[in-house]
Amino acid sequence: MQTVLVFGPGFLGTMFAESTPGAILSTADIANETEVREAIEDVRPDVVVNFAGKTGKPNVDWCEENKSITFRSNVTGALILAGVCQDLGLHLIHISSGCIFYGTAPDPRGWLESDFANPVSFYSCTKYAAELVIAQLENTAVIRLRMPIDSKPSTRNLITKLANYPKIIDVENSVTIIDDLMEVVRAVIAQKATGVFHAVNPGSVRHRDIIALYEELVDPNHVNEWINEQDLVSQGLARKARSNNLMQNTRLAEIGINMRPINIALRDAMEKYAAVVKQRD
Ligand SMILES: NC(=O)c1ccc[n+]([C@@H]2O[C@H](COP(=O)([O-])OP(=O)(O)OC[C@H]3O[C@@H](n4cnc5c(N)ncnc54)[C@H](OP(=O)(O)O)[C@@H]3O)[C@@H](O)[C@H]2O)c1
Repeated sequence: MQTVLVFGPGFLGTMFAESTPGAILSTADIANETEVREAIEDVRPDVVVNFAGKTGKPNVDWCEENKSITFRSNVTGALILAGVCQDLGLHLIHISSGCIFYGTAPDPRGWLESDFANPVSFYSCTKYAAELVIAQLENTAVIRLRMPIDSKPSTRNLITKLANYPKIIDVENSVTIIDDLMEVVRAVIAQKATGVFHAVNPGSVRHRDIIALYEELVDPNHVNEWINEQDLVSQGLARKARSNNLMQNTRLAEIGINMRPINIALRDAMEKYAAVVKQRD
């Protein structure tokens, strides 16, 4: 079994460490090179996964107001960790975001792993800045995910977020079912794969589809108001426009790592979500 050292003890990093045999979760500060080297020296891992980063609480608008803290973790920290892994010849999996793409891709089927991105928000600029360098390093994989959907209710889950918003925009996006993401990261580790990967489930989903499935399987009495995308900022519901986009998942498939089509994976996640809600009630 490989020893996997995971940085970033947050929502996804903790879930990955708890579900992956041989994984050890570090609380080291990735922007502190001494702490990073000590954590690696203590564990002597075969592979390192970086789930650490400032994602903004309650949402990415926080990053607009806290640029230096965001920059320190998402750019400086990411590069320090990548530099140490390069020095030691360690395979690094760096977790990034599909939110670096805004709007329509050059290919109408969606943004490719090789496309240059066009980030707008400060959060997405920091994610892209770091991965522009990291993706060029040897022994390194960059995995971009998008709007993670979990099979358990939580304030971090897109299903829970949408179900609790009184006003929702109906946009079409590529999304990532978290159960599938965990398998993708483990498969990339097993193959020692390198380069940029889009860990999005094939196909796309509209917010209306998610809400419809939620009303079918979880709460038939759910109600919300539908608003236009522009109203999100004009009504003060968000400070910066959100990234909405379609991404193509081509490179994972090329190496035989397949994610389930979104309609199947979303229904499966919603059925599990409904089971947890019913058990609670
Ligand atoms: N969740 C999403 O919607 C989403 C979408 C696309 C991509 N991603 C990417 O996925 C990764 C994990 O996201 P997540 O949802 O798990 O976010 P999260 O819950 O905020 O977890 C990130 C963790 O990293 C920690 N961290 C921040 N700066 C650090 C530093 N300098 N050194 C060590 N740890 C540090 C955070 O601690 P604090 O809480 O103390 O800051 C937190 O525990 C991030 O890189 C994020 O950009 C997430």
